[in-house]
Amino acid sequence: MTAAKFDVVIVGAGAAGLMCGIEAARRGRRVAVIDHAKKPAEKIRISGGGRCNFTHLQATPKNFLSQNPHFCISALKRFTPWDFLDRVVKRGIRYFEKTEGQLFCETSAGDIIDMLLDDLADAGGELYLGISVEGVTKTGPGFEIDTSNGNLTAEKLVIATGGLSIPKMGATGFAYGIARQFGHEIIETRAGLVPFTLGGEKLAAIEGLSGVSLTARVACGKASFTDGFLFTHRGLSGPAILQISSYWKPGEAIEVDLLPDMNGFDYLQSRRKDRPKQTLGNVVAEIQPRRLSDRILEWHDLPPEARMADLGNATLQTLADAVNRWTFIPDGTEGYRTAEVTLGGIDTRALSSQTMESQLCPGLYFIGECVDVTGWLGGYNFQWAWSSGWAAGQAV
Ligand code: FDA
Repeated sequence: MTAAKFDVVIVGAGAAGLMCGIEAARRGRRVAVIDHAKKPAEKIRISGGGRCNFTHLQATPKNFLSQNPHFCISALKRFTPWDFLDRVVKRGIRYFEKTEGQLFCETSAGDIIDMLLDDLADAGGELYLGISVEGVTKTGPGFEIDTSNGNLTAEKLVIATGGLSIPKMGATGFAYGIARQFGHEIIETRAGLVPFTLGGEKLAAIEGLSGVSLTARVACGKASFTDGFLFTHRGLSGPAILQISSYWKPGEAIEVDLLPDMNGFDYLQSRRKDRPKQTLGNVVAEIQPRRLSDRILEWHDLPPEARMADLGNATLQTLADAVNRWTFIPDGTEGYRTAEVTLGGIDTRALSSQTMESQLCPGLYFIGECVDVTGWLGGYNFQWAWSSGWAAGQAV
């Protein structure tokens, strides 16, 4: 390292840490961003299937889960999705809108990483990779940071080491350890935006359906999402399942409407009236993928060859419920191994929502995913990283 004395040391060269480093360095602060990984921002690289869903234009606080839903308001208002998009446009990065507000890189997520790294370097910020932090001590004027590459001092210390998801990419609980060291509470963490696993009879019931996908409405308690739904070898996935997984707690039931735009009972009744000779199997296959429709009939011992005219209302209702109100309790989730985010994290009650500074240890800041603010699927999590990183960057 060229200097062991910095104004600002940021631990974690991910989305939030790089944004904070850029902003602080632009303000003339001497900044070091350090990361234990050999490459920076690896989660940006793999995000959005390699194209990084870098923001959502309609991001509002209601798209985030937190014990304190108001905490994210200030940062999201001060550095908005449009502010980030402005940087993307000025840089000349080609992007496209996938569905209502979800913006992706047209070419590669690497475009976003290159922009952030160039912005950091242009502002004079220094990036150090492959360095781990072994300890942090508060000194009178700031912090002493013990690293695998010697000691650093910093007036301000920013922790941007993310959450626990995808440990094989270097995710650690480092931020929570530092937070606890300085007296912060941690809201219990759990995997979010993650597929459900099924076991025993439930898994046997969906055997052979892996790869079948459709649009479904999935609900847990008061939360619900209508989006893609996918059967897998181990359970259920797809955007609707990932979204609802963030609201689910073990033991709770999930209700799936496999036909969100239609009342199954009305449909079956009208088919019985209009086409009494049609078989039940063919009628259901008109509204569901064939592999799934056959299986739904099997679940309820309904003969696919039965003529519609021979079926009573009770049978039609059973079938309609199976389609419009399929209810089950997941066995679990795929966990941090595949989760896109970590729910919970550093309790926001002891952080400033304006600057992300600790109220228990002045000069210490927490930004990004390690804080108890978790977005929906769709670019919201990066927006939180940009907004919280930006907010801290103005203050450190
Ligand atoms: P992030 O995890 O990005 O960065 C933390 C950095 O800290 C890493 O570089 C890590 O190496 C480093 N670090 C960790 N421990 C350390 C230690 N002890 N010492 C030093 N360094 C340490 N979101 C979204 O909005 N749109 C999307 O398209 C996607 N797609 C997506 C796909 C997949 C597969 C995943 C896993 C996640 C997403 N996300 C997403 C979520 C998004 O990636 C995530 O919310 C942000 O990367 C969080 O940014 P942070 O900077 O907070 O942490």
